[in-house]
Amino acid sequence: MKILVTGGTGFIGSHTVVELQNKGYEVIIVDNLSNSGSDIVDKIAQITGITPVLEIFDLTDKQKTSDFFKRHNDIAGIIHFAAYKAVGESVQKPLLYYHNNLESLINILDGMNENGIRNLVFSSSCTVYGQPDELPVSENAPVKAAESPYGNTKQISEEIIYDSVKALGINAIALRYFNPIGAHPSALIGELPIGVPNNLVPFITQTAIGIRQCLSVFGDTYPTPDGTAIRDYIHVVDLAKAHVISVDRMIDGKMKENFEVFNLGTGNGYSVLEVIKSFEKVSGLKLNYKIVDRREGDITQVWADPEYSNRELGWKAEKSIDEMTLSAWKWEKALQQNKSK
Ligand code: UD1
Repeated sequence: MKILVTGGTGFIGSHTVVELQNKGYEVIIVDNLSNSGSDIVDKIAQITGITPVLEIFDLTDKQKTSDFFKRHNDIAGIIHFAAYKAVGESVQKPLLYYHNNLESLINILDGMNENGIRNLVFSSSCTVYGQPDELPVSENAPVKAAESPYGNTKQISEEIIYDSVKALGINAIALRYFNPIGAHPSALIGELPIGVPNNLVPFITQTAIGIRQCLSVFGDTYPTPDGTAIRDYIHVVDLAKAHVISVDRMIDGKMKENFEVFNLGTGNGYSVLEVIKSFEKVSGLKLNYKIVDRREGDITQVWADPEYSNRELGWKAEKSIDEMTLSAWKWEKALQQNKSK
């Protein structure tokens, strides 16, 4: 069965393509390569033995998207990752984010509607909960006013999908990710931030390998045990597997409602200092870091209640924080080796 993966050469997308192919799905990737490279399909082929089809175009291009769906009206399901995701940039360039993240989604929904494609998995984020009033945060927690245009595109996208499900007779699952980190155990695919990383783990590994001088820990006066902020980090391979299960669920007609939402997290919160300690343990290195002011817009703590997704999807994040930081470190070292070749 044919699955369209938009953004399939990106970080989470590429890991999901691997898991889909491992389960026997035929994958077509659409990506504009704005934040990735076409060589990723060769890496996926090295891991799985199968080269996924890659079509390079921008899903905000209505005509090209419409033509694509006419050529592929036998698609059984779509996993939609393709989107901009840098929180700070979205504050500077809100219209870029609204154009890109919303127009691509609308064009995809049009394509589904016009060609009888019924199943959509959407890449959402725990950012929709803001700083939740209760922890752990379940799917029933209220969606709070978005902190950034990026976060707002996730909220609006979920609303657009919800309305489309009601009106068009399609099925959709929104997966709200907590903090995806780590890399494939082969170290052939992983996270490839362009420029200075915004996220914690790529900054840690780039500091350890010598690309960055020092990691700034954003604040140690939060009301948490060690004063640093707490997040629910989840291994990207665990996350990828949840996408395959969601596709299976739709295709097998096992959904309870036509629009479902699941949290994808481990249920465990780790502070910034705990992540650093884990990295130091698995790498045997001492990380150069300093405490600086808090980063604007950061919340104190969030971790998932994964009970509903565990029960309903029959899925559970399996990898520990040490496996996450170790795989990220192996990936960083592999990148370095390839550069020096
Ligand atoms: C961020 C986004 C979130 C998005 C996710 C994935 C915000 C407020 N949230 O999550 O919406 O879905 O990325 O792209 O930006 N930290 C440091 N030093 C660093 C980098 C991070 O101390 O150099 C700390 C942060 O303050 C935070 C934790 O590490 O406490 C995790 O940060 P990060 O990896 O950027 O993820 P989030 O901010 O949780």
